[in-house]
Amino acid sequence: MMLVGLLESAIGALIVPILNQAFVQGTGTRAATLFGLQHLIPEDPLGAWKIISLLLITFTIIKGIAEYVSTYLMARIGQSAVLKLRQDLYGHLLDQSATFFERHRSNYLVSRLVSSAAAIETAVASTIRDMLRESFTLIVFVVASFYYSWRLTLISLAIAPIIALLTAKFGTSLRNLARDSFEGSKHLTDTAQEALANQGIVKAYRAEKRESARFANVARTIVRANLRSASIAGAAPPTIELIGMFFVVLLLFFGQQQIMAGRLNAAQFVAFSFFLFRRYDPMPKLSRLQNSMEQALAAAHHVWEVMDEHEKIEERPDAQPLPALRSEIELQNVSFGYANESRPVLRDVNLRIQSGSMVALVGESGGGKSTLTKLLPRFHDPREGAVLWDGINIRDATIASLRSQIALVTQETVLFNDTVRHNISYGRPEATDAEIQEAARIAFAHDFIQELPHGYDTLVGERGIFLSGGQRQRLAIARAILVNAPVLILDEATSALDAESERLVQRAIANLVRDRTTIVIAHRLSTIRRADVIVVMEAGRIIEMGTHSELLAHGGQYRRLYELQFADEEAELVGVTSM
Ligand SMILES: Nc1ncnc2c1ncn2[C@@H]1O[C@H](COP(=O)(O)OP(=O)(O)OP(=O)(O)O)[C@@H](O)[C@H]1O
Ligand SMILES: [Mg+2]
Repeated sequence: MMLVGLLESAIGALIVPILNQAFVQGTGTRAATLFGLQHLIPEDPLGAWKIISLLLITFTIIKGIAEYVSTYLMARIGQSAVLKLRQDLYGHLLDQSATFFERHRSNYLVSRLVSSAAAIETAVASTIRDMLRESFTLIVFVVASFYYSWRLTLISLAIAPIIALLTAKFGTSLRNLARDSFEGSKHLTDTAQEALANQGIVKAYRAEKRESARFANVARTIVRANLRSASIAGAAPPTIELIGMFFVVLLLFFGQQQIMAGRLNAAQFVAFSFFLFRRYDPMPKLSRLQNSMEQALAAAHHVWEVMDEHEKIEERPDAQPLPALRSEIELQNVSFGYANESRPVLRDVNLRIQSGSMVALVGESGGGKSTLTKLLPRFHDPREGAVLWDGINIRDATIASLRSQIALVTQETVLFNDTVRHNISYGRPEATDAEIQEAARIAFAHDFIQELPHGYDTLVGERGIFLSGGQRQRLAIARAILVNAPVLILDEATSALDAESERLVQRAIANLVRDRTTIVIAHRLSTIRRADVIVVMEAGRIIEMGTHSELLAHGGQYRRLYELQFADEEAELVGVTSM
């Protein structure tokens, strides 16, 4: 970069001999030239022209090479910085707890990974490079003009503070507008993403016009910010240039006097003017660069903001691997709430889950069933109380050893946009095809998978959109089966199945349950009749516990729920037959 600046001025310095040749034709005094270039130029006119041409071409070639090398090197530095930043940020994000992801929209995080990181890359790769180069060029030019006439240079430097002030002023406005525009695009992504991802709902409720209008509104705010910043960015250079030109005119007069006084010859004055004019070049460039630098800093700020959030489920430094479950998992006086001060979702829960048993959680919607299961793999930690695993507090165990013992089928079925095979083997990527098929058979998924266009290699689409709800669920069950973990959590695992598949999955679960500890959450009480313990939850508390027959005999909430469902089923049957 420095080389580029130096060569730029060397090329400028050649003007003096060129002019000497053109006007003075070797007679009279030969003006001194920057870097003593005049010594290279022979006396005879033809030789002089040759050398000058040679020097011009050589300098340009060297400058070109230097430019190429510096551009490439800075791009390399920028790219590796961004690669590192993206990896660090992504690793950091994946380390965060469930709470973190409940608080931040995934779009917001993705925009930091992609756009903010890219803005930083631009800053490193081009902005910093250009800034260094332009600053250095500016310095060399100032030094060069000093060389030719220090008086004129001093006068010309008087203008610098004025320009700096103006640049700073324009810069502040541009910065604010850049921030508005950045926020706007983020909002735009969110708006579009939401409507496009939920286009089924948008269509069903005929909200296309409303969504379009919402999108246009957000898009317009970006246009407004960008246009205002274009108007400022457009006005700034001419303003600065005009002020500069007044000074140039002034300098021309001074220069004329200097020449008359014999302190300067014409060639030197032309060289000086060259540097003077060229000096106004880097200045607006620098102010533009300052602007991109501000944007990059804003982007960096966005990244650090996320990097500074530490909402990890911390592993103790002395955490021990958790041995395989032998006797029981115990929830001891567990209370939990999602946000720090929010009302508790679980209150004083005490529950023992015997190893090898099947425990069913039932109860009203929002009662805290799913929440309870999230405490076992430590997606969240209880606010009070503890979860004990054979008497060991799971907080004292390594997270990996804990989670490796738990397989999970969540309430919302989550599939990746990949093949059926990839989705089933997600928890055990090394599983063989035979193992994958076996798991699919147990989950009663094998038959429908074989009927898919490419069998196990069929892509399931974004979030599994090419599959039916029940098929998705069976894939999720197969995935949980394949990891073969001793503890299995099935949240509403059978809710999206028809009666026949449900019966099949019931049998699958019955197979699974045999040598596993299972926690099943189900709304259809028929599916959990065989559970060893049924736990009834209401408003975050356990209100009843026992076997199906015990609870029916007890005549409490469970019996009411059961009768309600029974009545519903009766009503459904009546409804069907009367049609
Ligand atoms: N991520 C979350 N952030 C804040 N509150 C939450 C969150 N998830 C659940 N809740 C709240 O916690 C309570 C319990 O929710 P939970 O999902 O455990 O209920 P549930 O018993 O599984 O209900 P359902 O039978 O409908 O699945 C609800 O009042 C819900 O509003
Ligand atoms: Mg739930």
